[in-house]
Amino acid sequence: MSLPQPSGARLLSLGTSLPDNVVTNDDLAERVDTTHDWIVDRTGIQERRIGGTTSGLATDASRQAIERSGIDPSTIDLLILATTSPDRRVPATASTVQENLGLSCGAMDLNAACSGFVYGLIAAHGFINLGHRRILVVGAETLSRITNWDDRSTCILFADGAGAAVIERTDGEGDLKGWHVASNGALEDTLFCEFDGKLIMSGGAIFKNAVLAMERSALHSLEMADLTPDDIDLVVPHQANVRIVEASCKRLGIPFEKTSMTIHRTGNTSSASVPLALDHALQENRISKDDNVLLVGFGAGMTSASAVLKWNGV
Ligand code: COA
Repeated sequence: MSLPQPSGARLLSLGTSLPDNVVTNDDLAERVDTTHDWIVDRTGIQERRIGGTTSGLATDASRQAIERSGIDPSTIDLLILATTSPDRRVPATASTVQENLGLSCGAMDLNAACSGFVYGLIAAHGFINLGHRRILVVGAETLSRITNWDDRSTCILFADGAGAAVIERTDGEGDLKGWHVASNGALEDTLFCEFDGKLIMSGGAIFKNAVLAMERSALHSLEMADLTPDDIDLVVPHQANVRIVEASCKRLGIPFEKTSMTIHRTGNTSSASVPLALDHALQENRISKDDNVLLVGFGAGMTSASAVLKWNGV
């Protein structure tokens, strides 16, 4: 078998899953020295969902994405699961999800922290260029398992959830017009979690670098797509802090009103946050055919990633 001609890909469908258990800011204020107003003012978060397993949330989101796409699941060639909170160290949680879904395809985990889903989406395009036809890209997390619930500077932020997308090879024009991935390992100590430990974060350093990383990554992708910030119809940013998104949009010259935000009810779900916010925009009918959609994420590492999609109308 010889290598196929490079080809584009389309995003066919999305699916999401959030745990039922809602934890409010007032719930957290019963445990640590904080208030609802402080959390809303400094982060935009009003509540978050906690519970389940990474594989369970990933499976539910994937089932919904597959159902919405209408494809035969047996035609999926690869499952890429972006996560920083796998069920176990070994095997990859992607293999558990594969078994849950009854798939017989390649399966792997990808850890690029909160940039993971966008990294996965871009990697999927690479595999499609190498001949794969259909790929399931999932971002799923149970950050609650690695959160220190006595640390008020982190426990207010992190939460659980999953989002999934079915990507399909197309003979026509593909969605992806520009992309960028980066990592600055010099900042690895700003957010980390040792094996069997809890997340430790330097919030101020992350904040400052996240704003710069989002701007830089978005500009790279826009340049590749031959677009300017004015051409963007919708920004789907990683949901870490509403103030980070506001500051990044300001630097890019994109009105904040053009963002899809879910952080107020989901908190920071790391690699799940971009597909959750993208699906939210779709459910709200905020994306039309041929819109230019900018996905942009950043996270521990410090990683960043972005993608410009010309929406194909799904
Ligand atoms: N409730 C009340 N006060 C809090 C608090 C809380 N939950 N968390 C921290 N504080 C206090 C601090 O102890 C500090 O008190 P001090 O001045 O007496 O020392 C004060 O609030 C200001 O702290 P600071 O860290 O400057 O606040 P901030 O405005 O930067 O907000 C974060 C803190 C964590 C919300 C913010 O830095 C942030 O979001 N950073 C990015 C984190 C992130 O995105 N991580 C994930 C990356 S993917």
